[in-house]
Amino acid sequence: MGFLHKHAALEKNSILLLILIIVTVLIGGIVEIIPLFRKETVIEPVEGVRPYTPLELAGYNIYIREGCYNCHSQQIRALRDEVARYGHYSLAAESMYDHPFQWGSKRTGPDLARVGGKYSDEWHVEHMVNPRAVVPESIMPTYSFLLRHGAKLHDLKDHLKALRAVGVPYTDEMIDMAEKDAAVQATGEPRVDISGLQERYGDRVNARDFDGQPHMISEMDALVAYLQVLGTMVDFESVEGIDVSLEKSTNVDGGTQ
Ligand code: HEC
Repeated sequence: MGFLHKHAALEKNSILLLILIIVTVLIGGIVEIIPLFRKETVIEPVEGVRPYTPLELAGYNIYIREGCYNCHSQQIRALRDEVARYGHYSLAAESMYDHPFQWGSKRTGPDLARVGGKYSDEWHVEHMVNPRAVVPESIMPTYSFLLRHGAKLHDLKDHLKALRAVGVPYTDEMIDMAEKDAAVQATGEPRVDISGLQERYGDRVNARDFDGQPHMISEMDALVAYLQVLGTMVDFESVEGIDVSLEKSTNVDGGTQ
Protein backbone atom coordinates (compact mmCIF):
# COMPACT_ATOMS: atom_id res chain seq x y z
CA MET A 1 0.00 0.00 0.00
CA GLY A 2 2.38 2.64 -1.29
CA PHE A 3 0.05 5.62 -1.03
CA LEU A 4 -0.61 5.04 2.65
CA HIS A 5 3.10 5.16 3.09
CA LYS A 6 3.25 8.56 1.45
CA HIS A 7 0.39 9.74 3.57
CA ALA A 8 2.43 9.00 6.65
CA ALA A 9 4.84 11.71 5.53
CA LEU A 10 1.94 14.17 5.41
CA GLU A 11 0.72 13.24 8.83
CA LYS A 12 4.10 13.89 10.29
CA ASN A 13 4.54 17.30 8.65
CA SER A 14 1.78 19.60 9.84
CA ILE A 15 2.76 22.56 7.67
CA LEU A 16 2.69 20.46 4.52
CA LEU A 17 -0.61 18.95 5.63
CA LEU A 18 -2.04 22.41 6.22
CA ILE A 19 -0.97 23.67 2.81
CA LEU A 20 -2.44 20.65 1.06
CA ILE A 21 -5.70 20.97 3.02
CA ILE A 22 -5.99 24.60 1.90
CA VAL A 23 -5.33 23.63 -1.71
CA THR A 24 -7.92 20.86 -1.55
CA VAL A 25 -10.57 23.12 -0.01
CA LEU A 26 -9.83 25.84 -2.56
CA ILE A 27 -10.32 23.47 -5.47
CA GLY A 28 -13.61 22.31 -4.00
CA GLY A 29 -14.70 25.89 -3.44
CA ILE A 30 -13.80 27.02 -6.93
CA VAL A 31 -15.58 24.12 -8.55
CA GLU A 32 -18.73 24.80 -6.55
CA ILE A 33 -18.83 28.58 -6.47
CA ILE A 34 -17.51 29.84 -9.81
CA PRO A 35 -20.35 28.38 -11.92
CA LEU A 36 -22.88 30.26 -9.77
CA PHE A 37 -21.54 33.57 -11.06
CA ARG A 38 -22.99 32.73 -14.45
CA LYS A 39 -26.73 33.24 -14.28
CA GLU A 40 -27.39 30.76 -17.08
CA THR A 41 -26.46 27.98 -14.70
CA VAL A 42 -28.69 29.05 -11.82
CA ILE A 43 -31.71 30.51 -13.58
CA GLU A 44 -33.85 28.29 -15.71
CA PRO A 45 -35.04 30.40 -18.64
CA VAL A 46 -38.81 30.69 -18.86
CA GLU A 47 -40.74 31.54 -22.00
CA GLY A 48 -42.18 35.02 -22.09
CA VAL A 49 -39.68 36.77 -19.84
CA ARG A 50 -38.26 39.71 -21.78
CA PRO A 51 -36.22 42.79 -20.91
CA TYR A 52 -38.30 45.84 -19.94
CA THR A 53 -39.32 48.24 -22.68
CA PRO A 54 -37.66 51.66 -22.34
CA LEU A 55 -40.86 53.16 -20.86
CA GLU A 56 -41.19 50.34 -18.33
CA LEU A 57 -37.52 50.79 -17.48
CA ALA A 58 -38.13 54.50 -16.88
CA GLY A 59 -40.92 53.43 -14.51
CA TYR A 60 -38.63 50.95 -12.79
CA ASN A 61 -36.10 53.75 -12.26
CA ILE A 62 -38.81 55.94 -10.69
CA TYR A 63 -39.84 53.01 -8.48
CA ILE A 64 -36.28 52.88 -7.16
CA ARG A 65 -35.90 56.67 -6.93
CA GLU A 66 -39.06 56.99 -4.85
CA GLY A 67 -38.09 54.11 -2.59
CA CYS A 68 -41.21 52.05 -3.24
CA TYR A 69 -39.13 48.99 -2.30
CA ASN A 70 -39.03 50.24 1.28
CA CYS A 71 -42.66 49.25 1.67
CA HIS A 72 -43.23 46.75 -1.12
CA SER A 73 -41.63 43.42 -1.93
CA GLN A 74 -41.64 41.77 -5.33
CA GLN A 75 -41.20 38.19 -4.33
CA ILE A 76 -44.03 35.74 -3.77
CA ARG A 77 -42.84 32.87 -1.64
CA ALA A 78 -43.87 29.27 -2.24
CA LEU A 79 -46.22 29.23 0.74
CA ARG A 80 -49.91 28.49 0.50
CA ASP A 81 -51.13 31.78 1.94
CA GLU A 82 -48.88 33.83 -0.32
CA VAL A 83 -49.88 31.93 -3.44
CA ALA A 84 -53.55 32.22 -2.48
CA ARG A 85 -53.23 35.97 -2.01
CA TYR A 86 -50.82 37.04 -4.74
CA GLY A 87 -50.75 34.28 -7.35
CA HIS A 88 -48.08 31.88 -8.55
CA TYR A 89 -44.89 32.06 -6.51
CA SER A 90 -42.10 34.06 -8.13
CA LEU A 91 -39.65 32.34 -10.46
CA ALA A 92 -35.99 33.33 -10.55
CA ALA A 93 -36.30 34.02 -14.28
CA GLU A 94 -38.95 36.66 -13.65
CA SER A 95 -36.41 39.02 -12.10
CA MET A 96 -33.38 38.00 -14.14
CA TYR A 97 -33.32 41.33 -16.00
CA ASP A 98 -33.76 43.50 -12.89
CA HIS A 99 -30.49 45.19 -11.98
CA PRO A 100 -30.80 45.60 -9.06
CA PHE A 101 -33.59 43.13 -8.32
CA GLN A 102 -36.58 44.46 -6.36
CA TRP A 103 -37.34 41.48 -4.13
CA GLY A 104 -37.34 43.81 -1.15
CA SER A 105 -37.26 42.82 2.48
CA LYS A 106 -40.23 44.61 3.97
CA ARG A 107 -43.96 44.56 3.35
CA THR A 108 -45.62 47.61 4.78
CA GLY A 109 -47.81 47.43 1.70
CA PRO A 110 -48.63 44.29 -0.28
CA ASP A 111 -46.27 42.38 -2.56
CA LEU A 112 -46.28 43.83 -6.08
CA ALA A 113 -44.69 40.98 -8.04
CA ARG A 114 -48.00 40.25 -9.82
CA VAL A 115 -49.82 43.55 -9.60
CA GLY A 116 -49.80 43.90 -13.41
CA GLY A 117 -53.33 43.72 -14.80
CA LYS A 118 -54.89 43.59 -11.33
CA TYR A 119 -56.21 47.15 -11.55
CA SER A 120 -57.00 49.59 -14.35
CA ASP A 121 -54.61 52.38 -15.26
CA GLU A 122 -57.15 54.85 -13.85
CA TRP A 123 -57.11 53.05 -10.52
CA HIS A 124 -53.32 53.29 -10.35
CA VAL A 125 -53.32 56.98 -11.22
CA GLU A 126 -55.99 57.73 -8.63
CA HIS A 127 -54.18 55.63 -6.05
CA MET A 128 -50.83 57.34 -6.68
CA VAL A 129 -52.43 60.79 -6.58
CA ASN A 130 -54.25 60.04 -3.35
CA PRO A 131 -54.13 56.50 -1.95
CA ARG A 132 -56.90 57.35 0.56
CA ALA A 133 -59.29 58.06 -2.31
CA VAL A 134 -59.41 54.38 -3.23
CA VAL A 135 -58.24 52.65 -0.03
CA PRO A 136 -59.51 54.77 2.88
CA GLU A 137 -57.28 53.13 5.50
CA SER A 138 -54.12 53.39 3.37
CA ILE A 139 -50.93 54.80 4.87
CA MET A 140 -49.17 55.00 1.52
CA PRO A 141 -47.69 58.44 0.71
CA THR A 142 -49.10 60.45 -2.19
CA TYR A 143 -47.16 60.71 -5.44
CA SER A 144 -49.34 63.21 -7.30
CA PHE A 145 -46.30 65.13 -8.61
CA LEU A 146 -45.61 62.21 -10.97
CA LEU A 147 -48.50 63.46 -13.10
CA ARG A 148 -46.86 66.87 -13.52
CA HIS A 149 -43.27 65.72 -14.15
CA GLY A 150 -42.34 64.85 -17.70
CA ALA A 151 -40.67 61.44 -17.90
CA LYS A 152 -36.98 61.62 -18.69
CA LEU A 153 -36.65 59.78 -21.97
CA HIS A 154 -33.51 61.19 -23.56
CA ASP A 155 -31.13 59.17 -21.37
CA LEU A 156 -32.95 55.84 -21.73
CA LYS A 157 -30.48 54.84 -24.41
CA ASP A 158 -27.71 54.96 -21.82
CA HIS A 159 -29.76 52.97 -19.33
CA LEU A 160 -30.28 50.24 -21.93
CA LYS A 161 -26.59 50.27 -22.75
CA ALA A 162 -25.62 49.97 -19.10
CA LEU A 163 -27.98 47.05 -18.64
CA ARG A 164 -26.58 45.36 -21.72
CA ALA A 165 -23.14 45.62 -20.15
CA VAL A 166 -24.39 43.47 -17.28
CA GLY A 167 -26.02 40.89 -19.52
CA VAL A 168 -29.53 42.10 -20.43
CA PRO A 169 -29.97 41.18 -24.11
CA TYR A 170 -30.86 44.60 -25.56
CA THR A 171 -30.01 44.79 -29.26
CA ASP A 172 -28.39 47.74 -31.04
CA GLU A 173 -31.76 48.49 -32.56
CA MET A 174 -33.49 48.55 -29.17
CA ILE A 175 -30.84 50.95 -27.90
CA ASP A 176 -31.09 53.23 -30.93
CA MET A 177 -34.87 53.32 -30.76
CA ALA A 178 -35.16 53.63 -26.97
CA GLU A 179 -36.46 57.18 -26.78
CA LYS A 180 -38.88 56.73 -29.65
CA ASP A 181 -40.14 53.37 -28.33
CA ALA A 182 -40.89 54.99 -24.97
CA ALA A 183 -42.89 57.77 -26.63
CA VAL A 184 -44.75 55.28 -28.82
CA GLN A 185 -45.64 53.07 -25.87
CA ALA A 186 -47.03 55.98 -23.86
CA THR A 187 -49.17 57.10 -26.80
CA GLY A 188 -50.53 53.91 -28.34
CA GLU A 189 -52.84 53.28 -31.24
CA PRO A 190 -54.38 54.82 -33.26
CA ARG A 191 -52.24 57.92 -32.77
CA VAL A 192 -48.95 56.16 -33.54
CA ASP A 193 -47.79 52.99 -35.26
CA ILE A 194 -46.78 50.47 -32.60
CA SER A 195 -45.55 47.71 -34.92
CA GLY A 196 -41.85 48.50 -34.38
CA LEU A 197 -42.30 48.42 -30.61
CA GLN A 198 -44.12 45.09 -30.91
CA GLU A 199 -41.44 43.65 -33.15
CA ARG A 200 -38.82 44.47 -30.56
CA TYR A 201 -40.72 43.60 -27.38
CA GLY A 202 -43.49 41.25 -28.42
CA ASP A 203 -47.15 41.53 -29.40
CA ARG A 204 -48.36 41.58 -25.81
CA VAL A 205 -46.62 44.82 -24.92
CA ASN A 206 -49.02 47.39 -23.42
CA ALA A 207 -49.09 50.56 -25.50
CA ARG A 208 -51.51 53.33 -24.55
CA ASP A 209 -51.84 56.59 -22.71
CA PHE A 210 -51.45 55.30 -19.14
CA ASP A 211 -51.99 58.49 -17.16
CA GLY A 212 -55.03 60.00 -18.85
CA GLN A 213 -53.04 63.00 -20.09
CA PRO A 214 -52.61 62.43 -23.80
CA HIS A 215 -50.75 65.71 -24.29
CA MET A 216 -47.70 64.67 -22.26
CA ILE A 217 -45.57 61.68 -21.30
CA SER A 218 -45.34 61.96 -17.56
CA GLU A 219 -43.47 60.01 -14.91
CA MET A 220 -46.89 58.59 -14.05
CA ASP A 221 -47.09 57.07 -17.56
CA ALA A 222 -43.77 55.37 -16.99
CA LEU A 223 -44.55 54.12 -13.49
CA VAL A 224 -47.98 52.75 -14.43
CA ALA A 225 -46.52 51.05 -17.53
CA TYR A 226 -44.03 49.39 -15.22
CA LEU A 227 -46.63 48.35 -12.62
CA GLN A 228 -48.91 46.95 -15.33
CA VAL A 229 -46.27 44.57 -16.68
CA LEU A 230 -45.19 43.18 -13.31
CA GLY A 231 -45.80 39.46 -13.15
CA THR A 232 -47.56 39.29 -16.51
CA MET A 233 -44.71 38.13 -18.72
CA VAL A 234 -45.01 34.42 -17.99
CA ASP A 235 -48.24 32.75 -19.03
CA PHE A 236 -48.55 30.12 -16.33
CA GLU A 237 -51.42 28.33 -18.04
CA SER A 238 -49.38 27.52 -21.12
CA VAL A 239 -45.82 27.13 -19.88
CA GLU A 240 -44.96 23.50 -19.48
CA GLY A 241 -42.80 22.14 -16.77
CA ILE A 242 -43.89 24.65 -14.16
CA ASP A 243 -45.99 23.11 -11.47
CA VAL A 244 -48.73 25.53 -10.60
CA SER A 245 -50.61 23.34 -8.18
CA LEU A 246 -50.84 24.54 -4.64
CA GLU A 247 -50.73 21.00 -3.34
CA LYS A 248 -47.16 20.53 -4.44
CA SER A 249 -45.84 23.81 -3.15
CA THR A 250 -43.85 23.50 0.02
CA ASN A 251 -45.41 23.97 3.40
CA VAL A 252 -48.82 22.77 2.30
CA ASP A 253 -50.17 22.01 5.73
CA GLY A 254 -47.77 23.85 7.92
CA GLY A 255 -47.36 27.49 8.65
CA THR A 256 -50.09 29.96 9.12
CA GLN A 257 -48.10 33.13 8.57
C1 HEC B 1 -44.80 54.03 3.53
C2 HEC B 1 -44.98 52.79 2.81
C3 HEC B 1 -45.28 52.81 1.31
C4 HEC B 1 -44.55 53.36 0.29
C5 HEC B 1 -43.26 54.15 0.39
C6 HEC B 1 -45.22 53.00 -0.92
N1 HEC B 1 -46.33 52.26 -0.64
FE1 HEC B 1 -47.57 51.41 -2.01
N2 HEC B 1 -48.76 50.71 -0.51
C7 HEC B 1 -48.51 50.89 0.83
C8 HEC B 1 -49.64 50.33 1.59
C9 HEC B 1 -49.77 50.31 3.10
C10 HEC B 1 -50.54 49.81 0.64
C11 HEC B 1 -51.90 49.12 0.92
C12 HEC B 1 -53.01 50.16 0.97
C13 HEC B 1 -53.26 50.77 -0.37
O1 HEC B 1 -53.63 50.06 -1.33
O2 HEC B 1 -53.02 51.99 -0.52
C14 HEC B 1 -49.96 50.07 -0.66
C15 HEC B 1 -50.53 49.68 -1.88
C16 HEC B 1 -49.93 49.81 -3.11
C17 HEC B 1 -50.47 49.29 -4.34
C18 HEC B 1 -51.73 48.43 -4.48
C19 HEC B 1 -51.34 46.98 -4.32
C20 HEC B 1 -52.47 46.02 -4.32
O3 HEC B 1 -52.25 44.87 -4.73
O4 HEC B 1 -53.58 46.38 -3.93
C21 HEC B 1 -49.62 49.65 -5.34
C22 HEC B 1 -49.75 49.33 -6.81
C23 HEC B 1 -48.57 50.42 -4.72
N3 HEC B 1 -48.79 50.50 -3.37
C24 HEC B 1 -47.51 50.98 -5.42
C25 HEC B 1 -46.53 51.79 -4.83
C26 HEC B 1 -45.53 52.47 -5.58
C27 HEC B 1 -45.35 52.41 -7.07
C28 HEC B 1 -44.78 53.17 -4.67
C29 HEC B 1 -43.62 54.12 -4.95
C30 HEC B 1 -43.92 55.21 -5.85
C31 HEC B 1 -45.31 52.88 -3.36
N4 HEC B 1 -46.39 52.05 -3.50
C32 HEC B 1 -44.79 53.36 -2.19
C33 HEC B 1 -47.41 51.46 1.41
C34 HEC B 1 -46.42 52.14 0.71
